[in-house]
Amino acid sequence: MRLNELLGTEFPIIQGGMANIATGEFAAACSNAGALGMIATGGWDGDRLRTEIRRAKELTDKPFGVNLMLMSPFADDIARVILEEGVKVVTTGAGNPGKYIPAWKEAGIKVMPVVAAAVLAKRLKRYGVDAFIAEGTESGGHVGEMTTMALVPQVIDAVSVPVIAAGGIADGRQLAAAYALGAIGAQVGTCLLASRECPIHENYKQAILKAKDSDTVVTGRSIGGPVRVLKNKMSRTYLELEKRNATLEELETVTLGGLRRAVLEGDVETGSVMTGQVAGMLHEIKPVRQIFAELVAGGDARIRELAETV
Ligand SMILES: Cc1cc2nc3c(=O)[nH]c(=O)nc-3n(C[C@H](O)[C@H](O)[C@H](O)COP(=O)(O)O)c2cc1C
Repeated sequence: MRLNELLGTEFPIIQGGMANIATGEFAAACSNAGALGMIATGGWDGDRLRTEIRRAKELTDKPFGVNLMLMSPFADDIARVILEEGVKVVTTGAGNPGKYIPAWKEAGIKVMPVVAAAVLAKRLKRYGVDAFIAEGTESGGHVGEMTTMALVPQVIDAVSVPVIAAGGIADGRQLAAAYALGAIGAQVGTCLLASRECPIHENYKQAILKAKDSDTVVTGRSIGGPVRVLKNKMSRTYLELEKRNATLEELETVTLGGLRRAVLEGDVETGSVMTGQVAGMLHEIKPVRQIFAELVAGGDARIRELAETV
């Protein structure tokens, strides 16, 4: 089974939740373009989410979902609004969503936790989730330590439901590799930052286009909250402080409001420019429809080439 059959979408692709970026409007644009659009909730309360869900419903009649960041102080509130607004698909990030799953499943919601290690997938098996998203450390935003290549097969071996690959997928070669590892489709984030519809500041888009493959770093390892961002003044200062064993308070002064500053104000020097390692592959701004269509057609073409040559 491919992911599009599970979700009722045209393409086997999920637009990954991206805090402060994946609004109802952006999710609807991705759903209209053939993928599964996801509204992110990091930093928002339940009321803001309700507004964004209603906006998405106005803009698309295609399926879309909501991503719950479990470390959000509003997680309980958001989990309730998901039920009240009749959301059909939920992905969860940064933690164990076990306590919310029974009510969501009761309501017929498809639940797909994002996992960065097979141990969490094993722990969540008993809740009867529909699929897992195995996200490698190549991704932008909050990350684990395992690479997509090492992680995906180990999650597949640990569970009996479909697995979707995330992290480091931006063209057909990487999508074909995800299929080869056994994934039924992919979740992407970074490649969509370079899209016409993505509501980030123009400076953020240009910073992504300029980035080379090795231009990202992981901040926050010392406090157990690793985040992949573009190298800039903020990340240099942060890593310097981590080396000097700075306190959590000192570290937080560097990152406080940093993603919003980058996304909304275009401050790509002291802001937090979250991006994955595939930023180095992005050279132009495209419509989301073109990004999804090229990704999927490229994946199919690569598989055909392999069948003929290997
Ligand atoms: C700017 C940015 C913000 C992100 N925010 C979230 C988030 O709020 N919740 C979440 O579960 N994942 C988040 N992610 C991860 C994406 O949903 C997705 O899994 C990831 O981007 C896939 O890897 P890629 O960046 O290599 O495409 C974020 C990624 C990026 C690039």
